[in-house]
Amino acid sequence: MSDGKQSILVFGATGQQGGSVATALLKAGWPVRALVRNPASSKSVALRNAGVELVEGTFAHTDVIRAAMNGVHGVFSVQPSSPGGVVSDEDEVCFGAAIADLSVETGVKHIVYTSSNAVGDQLTGMGHFDSKARIEAHIGALPITATIIRPATFMEMLVMPGFGLDEGRFNFFAKPDQRIQLLAVEDIGKFVAAIFADPVRFGGKTLEIASDTVTGRDLEAQFTEAAGRPITYARFSDEVLEANHFLRKLTELLDEGRLAGKADLDALREITPDLQSFRSWLAGSGREAFREALGTAGAWAYGHA
Ligand SMILES: NC(=O)c1ccc[n+]([C@@H]2O[C@H](COP(=O)([O-])OP(=O)(O)OC[C@H]3O[C@@H](n4cnc5c(N)ncnc54)[C@H](OP(=O)(O)O)[C@@H]3O)[C@@H](O)[C@H]2O)c1
Repeated sequence: MSDGKQSILVFGATGQQGGSVATALLKAGWPVRALVRNPASSKSVALRNAGVELVEGTFAHTDVIRAAMNGVHGVFSVQPSSPGGVVSDEDEVCFGAAIADLSVETGVKHIVYTSSNAVGDQLTGMGHFDSKARIEAHIGALPITATIIRPATFMEMLVMPGFGLDEGRFNFFAKPDQRIQLLAVEDIGKFVAAIFADPVRFGGKTLEIASDTVTGRDLEAQFTEAAGRPITYARFSDEVLEANHFLRKLTELLDEGRLAGKADLDALREITPDLQSFRSWLAGSGREAFREALGTAGAWAYGHA
């Protein structure tokens, strides 16, 4: 039921973050409109079957986006970024800025933009984080109620092939005793639904979001428990970090505390009480992907970046 609410326009609804947001907004009773590139794709069809109004277009179709914003209350803005090799950092900034500009032009009441927890007062030197800092700054200068969310590392990232799970080990950025915050993608939508429900509380705010804090040793214990066989943990070796600039930069940011996350989980639970711990995620919605990773060899997608 829409309760007389105006729509929210969701970008990237066939992807991780937008999909989570579309699901949570529908659950909260918002009519949801989504810009999709291919309305015939299985994910688009699933969205339509769930009640989402589909508009065909891409980030480059300014006129389509402008028309799609007609009469909407809010916009959820997410863009793909450079490490996946699909867009450049410049593209990401252009798309993010254009969506914000069009939101102002069409009288959207509230925009929620999803950034990254690595974004802060200083640039990181990594294109896909600094692009988000630029989009944040652009939105901050516009006359619109805006909320920035800064998500932690997605739990889903940890079960992508290439981190060694198929070989009974797990290599990641953190040292064994180092803390890193994680976020279940499913929880992103819950935060965004809470934000759209209370623009007075969240308008003009930047909210770092996470679901759990773990160390490398926690990951070892929780992966071992979930797999039913030993999974050992170690940080990426010096050789790997030496050979891979992308991984090395991420590891440096973690060591500097800029990627570790500093979200206040207790305060976040007051917004979204049922945040998923990594353990509960592994046993629940992450279970299938974890099982698949245990049986899948391969290099991480950005292994040669
Ligand atoms: N914190 C983390 O651990 C973490 C992890 C991964 C990503 N991220 C960040 O999250 C952002 C990406 O979000 P995501 O993971 O939700 O993305 P995703 O799952 O890769 O989905 C991307 C979405 O954008 C759509 N899209 C791509 N190019 C488009 C275009 N030209 N026009 C219109 N729509 C387009 C895709 O549609 P189609 O279905 O048509 O492809 C899809 O819906 C990136 O900026 C990245 O840096 C953060």
